Amino acid sequence: MTARDALRTPAIVGRRPVLVTGGAGFIGSNVADRLAREGHDVLVFDALARPGVEANLAWLKKRHPQRVSSVTADIRDEAAVADAAGEATAVFHFAAQVAVTTSLAEPREDFDINVRGTLHLLDALRRRNGAVPLLFASTNKVYGDLADVVLDATHDAYLPRDPVVRTSGIGEDRPLAFHTPYGCSKGAADQYVLDYARSFGVAAAVMRMSCIYGPRQMGTEDQGWVAHFLIRALRGEPISIYGDGRQVRDVLDVSDAVEAYLAAWRRIESVQGRAFNLGGGPGNAVSLRQLLRSIEDLLGRPVEIAFADWRAGDQRYYVSNTRRAAHELGLRPPVPWRTGVAALARWLTDERGLRVAAAPRVRAAGALS
Ligand SMILES: NC(=O)c1ccc[n+]([C@@H]2O[C@H](COP(=O)([O-])OP(=O)(O)OC[C@H]3O[C@@H](n4cnc5c(N)ncnc54)[C@H](O)[C@@H]3O)[C@@H](O)[C@H]2O)c1
Repeated sequence: MTARDALRTPAIVGRRPVLVTGGAGFIGSNVADRLAREGHDVLVFDALARPGVEANLAWLKKRHPQRVSSVTADIRDEAAVADAAGEATAVFHFAAQVAVTTSLAEPREDFDINVRGTLHLLDALRRRNGAVPLLFASTNKVYGDLADVVLDATHDAYLPRDPVVRTSGIGEDRPLAFHTPYGCSKGAADQYVLDYARSFGVAAAVMRMSCIYGPRQMGTEDQGWVAHFLIRALRGEPISIYGDGRQVRDVLDVSDAVEAYLAAWRRIESVQGRAFNLGGGPGNAVSLRQLLRSIEDLLGRPVEIAFADWRAGDQRYYVSNTRRAAHELGLRPPVPWRTGVAALARWLTDERGLRVAAAPRVRAAGALS
């Protein structure tokens, strides 16, 4: 057994796995599960930095005791990253500082994890002559706050005035504009990944994701708002809305995101060096207010809401134009958001034991109108 083998749990010692960084996290654990189900050996590389994700890792190992191994290590640890990447057959890179709010409080740490960590991985893959495919989880935040997109406000949502943007969403040709330290660090990593494909032939592609939701999401106020809203609503706890709640996002069920990542891996020769906007698209665009109303319908009771100031860099409207991804990755139509959100509510109830709490005594001053 090598020194590196000694650091990891034993399931796949001696075999060449698919590396999933951030594999204990929400999207990473769903990708790792799918890979293991398809018969791949998987090495999860995760610092277990996000509270609660150790439960995802335990779940993965219980389901796939012969397929899933893990290394508890930090993406900032260059030697650990080089070790893990040195024997991987492919890499899915999800490990990150994921919250805009945290990036504003700790911008240097955000930079170290998201930019330096990604660079460690890219250099390790460069040393392997680019032969190992890399799929990178980027974000719609690389397009900035989109303040130039003229919006009309309806009573519960913002909508672009331009009919083309309204029906198609934001495409990959949109100029990059990094806002907030998180936008800068993910955007820089996104560009490094594309450049390592260009300059060094690393077989890498970038997924600029909108809001992904689904089982295994440890949603908090800082990140993962669909799960966060459901968790708070199920517990009968108030929900803070930053801004007026008319913000619109296209939400995508994690099963569709997993499908897109695997499709990109399978087609890496044709998609290498390219970026794709990945989200639910215009058909799955929903405002915070509309989502809350739908949760009230699901739970059969009102949700308590408190309004607060807008947060830095918050886009009033972001909906992905998903045509490039759908066409080039051969994706099926996404799960309709109401179906996916209802399924997530069931998962939270069945798997995490959350029950619909008694209705709040006071309906909030800021209740939805
Ligand atoms: N969920 C979304 O809607 C969304 C949207 C756009 C982009 N993304 C990106 O997708 C990726 C996955 O997001 P997620 O929602 O699954 O988040 P997550 O927080 O559930 O997963 C991230 C994982 O990375 C791990 N991690 C954090 N810091 C680390 C470090 N220094 N070293 C090693 N591991 C570390 C965490 O413990 C966690 O398990 C991230 O890169 C995120 O920026 C997510």
